[in-house]
Amino acid sequence: MIKEDNQQWQAVIDLVYQNGQGHIFRFWNQLTSEEKQEFIDQLARIDWQQMNQLIHKALNPEKKIEQEIQPVEVITLQDRLQRDSEVLPSGEHALRQGKVGVCLVAGGQGSRLGFDGPKGCFPITPVKNKSLFQLHAEKIKAMSLKYDVTLPWYIMTSRTNNRATIEFFEKNNYFGLGKENVFFFTQEMIPAIDRQGKFLLESKNRIFESPNGHGGVLKALWESGAIDDMKRRGIEYLFYFQVDNVLIKMCDPVFIGYHITEQSQMSNKVVRKVRPEDRVGVICKIGDKIGVVEYSDLDDEHAYARTEDGELKFWAGSIAIHVIDVSFIEKENKHGFKLPFHIAQKAIPFVNEQGEKVKPNDKNGFKFETFIFDALLDADKTCTIEVERQTEFSAVKNKEGFESPQTAKEDLQRNYVRWLKEAGITVPMKDETLPLYPIEISPLFALDAEDVKRKKERIPAITGPTYIE
Ligand code: UTP
Repeated sequence: MIKEDNQQWQAVIDLVYQNGQGHIFRFWNQLTSEEKQEFIDQLARIDWQQMNQLIHKALNPEKKIEQEIQPVEVITLQDRLQRDSEVLPSGEHALRQGKVGVCLVAGGQGSRLGFDGPKGCFPITPVKNKSLFQLHAEKIKAMSLKYDVTLPWYIMTSRTNNRATIEFFEKNNYFGLGKENVFFFTQEMIPAIDRQGKFLLESKNRIFESPNGHGGVLKALWESGAIDDMKRRGIEYLFYFQVDNVLIKMCDPVFIGYHITEQSQMSNKVVRKVRPEDRVGVICKIGDKIGVVEYSDLDDEHAYARTEDGELKFWAGSIAIHVIDVSFIEKENKHGFKLPFHIAQKAIPFVNEQGEKVKPNDKNGFKFETFIFDALLDADKTCTIEVERQTEFSAVKNKEGFESPQTAKEDLQRNYVRWLKEAGITVPMKDETLPLYPIEISPLFALDAEDVKRKKERIPAITGPTYIE
């Protein structure tokens, strides 16, 4: 047991030992006084009660679905044929009145993509290689021009990518949105553990921590002062999306319109699962609440269940696009809510007993994450609308194959081709859906087929790689 004269240090050290994690001081005697202080600062932030509960849960996994689940009520594509035009004016009105803010979660580690830097900096557009951040920024800019309004952008980062993200925005002059309209804030971190429930060392004076999941955004918005900023600006509705969806329909006025008309506190977009194996969480009724069951937690009995007409019973696949009332986030925080942690097995790099860095290929421990959709369980009123996957959701998750940069680029181009063809423009094709030459349409030129139709005179003949701006 380590003994230190500094009483504050000793109190933290004692707690670590009492909680069975004394092994992390293995290199203590090699540390400088400054390094010791940094280590103590990190350890002093640990919520031991919560940590021990999570360790227990990770080492003693329970049954995945504890309550009865039922399908949720969804405003389907069929319903929307009639209703969209009714709700659109209220969404557009909210936008014009400056009541909408944009919230992006970009604190993830992007480990599957394996890109060296924040995922948002990844070049993704098919002709200009614009980054994900630029693509999103230009859509925000286009919507703010369309509705003659400022759309403030709240971006969550984490300790590991905050600086690089801000530098990227600085370097790109905030993509013309104005520094004062882009608000960065960071989420909390939480220690990871090995298979024995022990903390891992990231370096000799630091335990390994990971960001606390996209659910961390609700508390981080509050604690960073972002909610206060929204209230000062008169923002009532937050449009939430994730950094890797290249097809995001930014601040979709119809979606906002449904949220307002249905007096929902938190609304969802879903896509129709076509196969039981589709890897997407489903929105459903969990007991008397609305929530999401992750695809990995959905047992075969539910995943394969069909209705009388042969459709999947649990088809409402969540694509992580929400509209959330600012007052709901405020209320949640005032009541000291806590989202539940989910446990994921991961390959976690660590410093071994010899002080060497090890990068395991196999999963060697557990990380803990909260998920934004668990806030649905707290909402008195929610609303869920169906959208078409091919026009609204294509994520960059993996290096190759499923949900990769290649599929995202193709999905972007399929949409551009569709818009152009709807406007009557001839596009040389490679196959049924993809163009012969790379095509890209700037969000500042068009956000949808309607915009393309209106501006079709300005589009040159397509005889090679084409960027339309
Ligand atoms: P994912 O769960 O897909 O994770 O995040 P990821 O970090 O992008 O990639 P992997 O799993 O490490 O490969 C979905 C969205 O939630 C954000 C991500 O930045 C992404 O926009 N996120 C995730 C956070 O903001 N914080 C987190 O702690 C986790």
